[in-house]
Amino acid sequence: MNRKFMKTVALTMVAAMGFLMAGCSTDTANSDETAAAGSFTTVTEGTLTMATNAFFPPYEYYEGDQIVGIDAEIAQAVADKLGLELVIEDVEFDSIIAGVQSGMYDIGCAGMTVTEERMQSVNFTTTYATGIQSIIVTEGSDITDLDSLIASGCMVGVQTGTTGDLYMSDEVGEDRMDRYNKGNDAVLALLNGVVGAVVIDNQPAQAFVAANEGLVILETPYTVEDYAMCVSKENEALLAAINEALAELQADGTIDAIIETYIPSEEA
Ligand code: ARG
Repeated sequence: MNRKFMKTVALTMVAAMGFLMAGCSTDTANSDETAAAGSFTTVTEGTLTMATNAFFPPYEYYEGDQIVGIDAEIAQAVADKLGLELVIEDVEFDSIIAGVQSGMYDIGCAGMTVTEERMQSVNFTTTYATGIQSIIVTEGSDITDLDSLIASGCMVGVQTGTTGDLYMSDEVGEDRMDRYNKGNDAVLALLNGVVGAVVIDNQPAQAFVAANEGLVILETPYTVEDYAMCVSKENEALLAAINEALAELQADGTIDAIIETYIPSEEA
């Protein structure tokens, strides 16, 4: 390398550093702004509109006409921190992302797994919980694991648009998929012998098995999934504000306490 070239490189580096430093200070100003109350916008002023599908205990389910559960409580705690009133809309799971994208809802909060594909459409907050896919079968079923489920030729029940739906479509093919808008309806189909197995996240699986006689849960080889809220890619200020609220709720133990209420650790 000749001297002149070295000099050019050095100068370019200095210029780049100046540039970076300028970039840094602008960023800091921006994030300070984000931290200030009221710098984000929501669909309806003063309200945090959350879309969920409320047939997914213990994350969201009805108690009378109230939607309760881990997601409902965490979203409430976030809304409180942001000085917003929480409004929960119960919609079909596979319409949540489109509704967040098109500005109908501020957040999707529905035991929603962070996936690469969904990240093309929406932003995800930091993760606040995890899940694993499970197989539910009737007691005494010949299906004892994923391989025997695949070999069985049985129909497989899933909730439309969930990760269970995605995985099973790959494993058994379209012809053997029976899709339902609610997890409960898939479980009902299993009880009625319409499907031979249901693939769904482990916590709702446990709740459904506890509520219905004659069902058992099998493990799948699928690994841990991260649950997070989704926010429109257009609303980075809201994403930042929610992440800040989540970090505080994580640090002061609120999130752990909420999860512990619904999933006592000896069961987890
Ligand atoms: N974790 C799965 C997914 O993201 C299922 C979520 C279903 N949630 C619900 N509230 N019904 O695809």
